[in-house]
Amino acid sequence: MVCADEPLLEDVLRMCAAAGTAPLVTRDVATARRAWTAAPLVVVGAESAAGLAAVDPGRRARVVVVGLDVNDAGTWAAAVRIGAEQVFVLPGDQDALIDAFANCLDRSGDDAVVVSVVGGCGGAGASCLAGAVALSASRAGEATLLVDADPLGGGIDMVLGNEAVTGLRWPDLAVTSGRISGRSLRAALPRLSALSMLSWDRGDLLTIPAASMRSVVAAGQRSHDLVIIDVPRRLDPAAEEALMRSTMTVLVVPAEIRAIAAASRVLAQLRPLTSQVSLVVRGPGPSGVGADVVADTLGLPLIASMRPDRKIAESIDEGLGPGARRRGPMATAAESVLASVRSHRSGRELT
Ligand SMILES: Nc1ncnc2c1ncn2[C@@H]1O[C@H](COP(=O)(O)OP(=O)(O)OP(=O)(O)O)[C@@H](O)[C@H]1O
Ligand SMILES: [Mg+2]
Repeated sequence: MVCADEPLLEDVLRMCAAAGTAPLVTRDVATARRAWTAAPLVVVGAESAAGLAAVDPGRRARVVVVGLDVNDAGTWAAAVRIGAEQVFVLPGDQDALIDAFANCLDRSGDDAVVVSVVGGCGGAGASCLAGAVALSASRAGEATLLVDADPLGGGIDMVLGNEAVTGLRWPDLAVTSGRISGRSLRAALPRLSALSMLSWDRGDLLTIPAASMRSVVAAGQRSHDLVIIDVPRRLDPAAEEALMRSTMTVLVVPAEIRAIAAASRVLAQLRPLTSQVSLVVRGPGPSGVGADVVADTLGLPLIASMRPDRKIAESIDEGLGPGARRRGPMATAAESVLASVRSHRSGRELT
């Protein structure tokens, strides 16, 4: 922590204590520059950001700037110059900052990859694919968390045939905004072997606060190998939060002209929120539109083309879940998504 502002330092130390850590503190940018690369996380007080930028400490990951003044343009400029990933403005961002401390401590290896799955149009097959990817990953022994972020989707637990499994659901968690322990989240959610799930109950609650989504995803990343989120096309604040937390976003688009048009509008919403969007095409379409045409038109990398899976609706109705048949088109598409997740992971390890 590089900070020469006493009231700010006091606040941040309190948050560190809440996350269970005590930082090394210096007021001096030269000392900070020497410790720069070794620290797991560097927290720079807004008043020290410009001074630090002037000594050019070099690029590194996990640098954040913390300040009390929202309107200070100088802070943002200095933050950019030192390569900060985020600027936290207190007191508003207190929970997020505590999360950042906790993440940095809890991390066992790297944080879990977060994959959001979104349909390019209604009924594209996004929820089924999200479920199928989660099933495949958990079958392969990965601790997987499947989060249903679609309040009007009818419940992803129904897609998987897990609605009778007891455990926490969104209404129990929607009041949460602070840090959630990863281990207790995993213990409290409905789970079948390696697959935990956060779905809806059949009650009235229809909105998740963004802060609850943030806490859940952060805790999920600390306690699972992979987090998959079924994100609705109509983005609410929780869905936006989920996308911002995602390492990868998969857009599912049927190979039909109207679906492509709809998907381009969905994509425009996703772009500012999430950087790595790729495509799964459900097709070929009735008029012969191929996956390559969909990919070219939308300008997205194609992960998989998913042929019509005639058994899928039946399999879900019977409570067996999508991809119950391990060799069907849905299961194969899910495997391709997982391969993409794995290459993403190994790419991250190399950098
Ligand atoms: N590859 C496939 N082949 C055949 N049917 C499929 C396939 N994928 C999904 N379906 C069927 O399409 C319907 C819609 O699937 P799903 O609910 O996953 O779509 P969605 O994109 O999540 O829709 P929504 O807009 O409601 O969120 C379901 O009836 C499902 O059984
Ligand atoms: Mg859906």
